Amino acid sequence: MDQTTFLVFGATGRTGHHLVRLALEEGHRVRALVRDPARLAIVHPDLEVVSGSIAESPDLDALLIGTDFVVAMLGNAAMQRERSINAEFARELVPAMRRHGVSRFLYQAGGLSAPPGTRLPLALRLVRASIARANTGQHEDNEAVMRYLVDEAADIEWIAHRAAIGSDGPSKGVLRRSERRSSIATFRDCAEYDLRTVTDASAVHTCDLSTYHTP
Ligand SMILES: NC(=O)c1ccc[n+]([C@@H]2O[C@H](COP(=O)([O-])OP(=O)(O)OC[C@H]3O[C@@H](n4cnc5c(N)ncnc54)[C@H](OP(=O)(O)O)[C@@H]3O)[C@@H](O)[C@H]2O)c1
Repeated sequence: MDQTTFLVFGATGRTGHHLVRLALEEGHRVRALVRDPARLAIVHPDLEVVSGSIAESPDLDALLIGTDFVVAMLGNAAMQRERSINAEFARELVPAMRRHGVSRFLYQAGGLSAPPGTRLPLALRLVRASIARANTGQHEDNEAVMRYLVDEAADIEWIAHRAAIGSDGPSKGVLRRSERRSSIATFRDCAEYDLRTVTDASAVHTCDLSTYHTP
């Protein structure tokens, strides 16, 4: 198997730490930008941990050297109530990717974020306005990222995954990409999906959901 290098944002998060572990288990290299390295409880010769915050203009040129794939599983609900921090970061990341000829980027958003030019189904709009209201800033930021990618980054091979996640339990199966169907998945399964899907050319320029495959 070819050893590829993944640049990971959100490696200490609930999806991100699974993705880092799975990528290393598959024999890949991982470079992770983290605010607090002590929060990443993984030590591995193929894991490079870089301290920094996406909100403080990290040295993306250094981070992108030798990178094959970029995966972002970022969230900061408190800050995202005030600012679209992820969309601001995407506006720094994409030009840096262009400078380095790195094209493939998977961004994990959520199933309560509508892809550009679409509206969520009524049931999801109701969920978003009620029990998920505390995360409105996060949903809006995820929508701003997708809008930026659609409108201004057609030259980049971006993929948005609108994940629906219910627990940090063990695997419930294999997630497949779907335009309309969504399963409440585990963080681990979303991480496995992200890792597989970022290398899948057929997923480029999609903002799809994911659903468990039933043979
Ligand atoms: N959680 C869910 O139920 C759920 C469901 C569906 C979709 N999603 C979406 O999936 C994505 C990831 O969610 P998650 O729940 O896996 O994430 P999470 O557990 O909330 O972790 C977020 C990650 O982002 C990092 N981060 C936040 N601010 C940062 C900054 N300024 N600089 C660098 N890193 C920063 C955090 O680092 P620290 O460790 O330093 O905080 C952490 O690693 C989000 O877009 C979310 O909307 C989540």
